[in-house]
Amino acid sequence: MSLQNLLPFNTSHCFIDGEWRPSVSGGVLPLLNPSDGDILCEIAAGDADDINAAVRAASAALDSDWGRFTALERGRVLARTGALVSENLDLLSELEATDVGKPVTQARADVIALARYLEFYAGAADKVHGETLPYLDGYTVYTLREPHGVTGHIIPWNYPMQIIGRSVGAALTMGNACVLKPAEDACLTALMFAELARQAGLPAGALNVVPGTGERAGAALASHKEVQHISFTGSVKVGELIQSQAAGNVVPVTLELGGKSPQVVFEDADIEAALPFLVNAGIQNAGQTCSAASRILVQKTIYNELLNAMAEKYRGLRVGPAADDYEVGPLISASQKQRVESYLSQDDQLQLVASGVIVNKAPEGGNYVEPRLYACSDASHILAQQEIFGPVQVVIPFETEEQAVAIANGTEFGLVASVWTANGARQMRMAKQLRAGQVFINNYGAGGGVELPFGGVGKSGHGREKGFEALYGFSTLKTVAALHG
Ligand code: NAI
Ligand code: MG
Repeated sequence: MSLQNLLPFNTSHCFIDGEWRPSVSGGVLPLLNPSDGDILCEIAAGDADDINAAVRAASAALDSDWGRFTALERGRVLARTGALVSENLDLLSELEATDVGKPVTQARADVIALARYLEFYAGAADKVHGETLPYLDGYTVYTLREPHGVTGHIIPWNYPMQIIGRSVGAALTMGNACVLKPAEDACLTALMFAELARQAGLPAGALNVVPGTGERAGAALASHKEVQHISFTGSVKVGELIQSQAAGNVVPVTLELGGKSPQVVFEDADIEAALPFLVNAGIQNAGQTCSAASRILVQKTIYNELLNAMAEKYRGLRVGPAADDYEVGPLISASQKQRVESYLSQDDQLQLVASGVIVNKAPEGGNYVEPRLYACSDASHILAQQEIFGPVQVVIPFETEEQAVAIANGTEFGLVASVWTANGARQMRMAKQLRAGQVFINNYGAGGGVELPFGGVGKSGHGREKGFEALYGFSTLKTVAALHG
């Protein structure tokens, strides 16, 4: 059955001011299926005119119904949207799997995470508040948490639903009106999300979705003078551009730009427990995960043992179409495949220890890459330094705790890190010294944990999404000082 027949909206439309409509120019873009290279459907090629219309609708919503919603009412509409997301688990999983090329089980986990974000933020809506402050005699001083206004959300293709949950979910909780620019490579669940929010009773203009390219729709949103906050997840290069555009309008930005996250394994670790976390955090979503653990640092005394155990897992990895639900699916696009292969062509000095297998029935036109596990004795090697965004891990030996910290912190990035050790004092020392926005002790959560503030340091970006912390980022604080004598 054609995709369009499954959906209650036209895939080539934008969602603006509570309605589905074609882009002003009428332009469309093909949406490709990463599993076979075929065209799935057309999507709108939004540009500055559509972004303008979306921003106008968002501004108007703040002055009408949406702006008058109480915190309780905002929470309830988010809860209803979350319930509709759960009711549509099968459809949303199928859409995400098809569009992103993500194995169905992984896509289902993303739908469940989106519903959980909405549940969390729905419950938080009427529990985030200002404070009263002690001040001079005769004064009463208090703070108000207010929305920024119109917030712009430019999201990537790797986890559309999870990123909508953490970004749009938190922004709506605080009463902002959102303009969402999903990625041109995968945007069907973003569109479906807008439809579900509409059905749940979200007022017109509170959420607008304009698909299109980064260069046209994304840049128009990032530089728009009536947008008061920008949240971006994607490449460092585009993050830099967006921050400079936002600087021109003096608005805050949240940037989540990926990383080269390490898992550090000491000789006293429970290797059996660690093993699935070590491998899964590298190959989840074919390695196209901002918080992928692409570097595994292992104490020399257990290096060979652990490398062999990981190699065995790699040999069992099958790569194939998303619908067949193997461990690994295709990469999102031919250009991402090319990008990954160009990294892999620079693997001299590294030892290829094991690879996974592309299944025979994988269609020619799909963007398949064999997962690769490398032994790497040089932590400054390009494959140990740069974000590859493919199913590739390097395993690096270290001798002492100091060395482990130096290697772990020795990239431009700092998103997530983990330490595996039974030594409690070492756990605490490592957690303090690792340069990252999140540190896991004896576990690893690539993208997990709705409740847990998330974001980077260094080139991984700044600002925090997820958890309660995100609600502070998506609001601004007003101090009121009353002199009453
Ligand atoms: P990208 O940064 O170009 O795309 C992310 C989003 O930004 C998309 O919605 C895109 O349309 C938009 N965009 C692109 N150019 C823009 C511009 N000039 N102004 C405003 N918006 C713009 O990332 P791409 O090309 O898809 O992937 C390249 C690399 O970026 C990946 O290999 C990976 O290393 C990194 N990346 C990191 C992600 C993360 O989760 N942190 C997600 C996606 C990519
Ligand atoms: Mg790009």
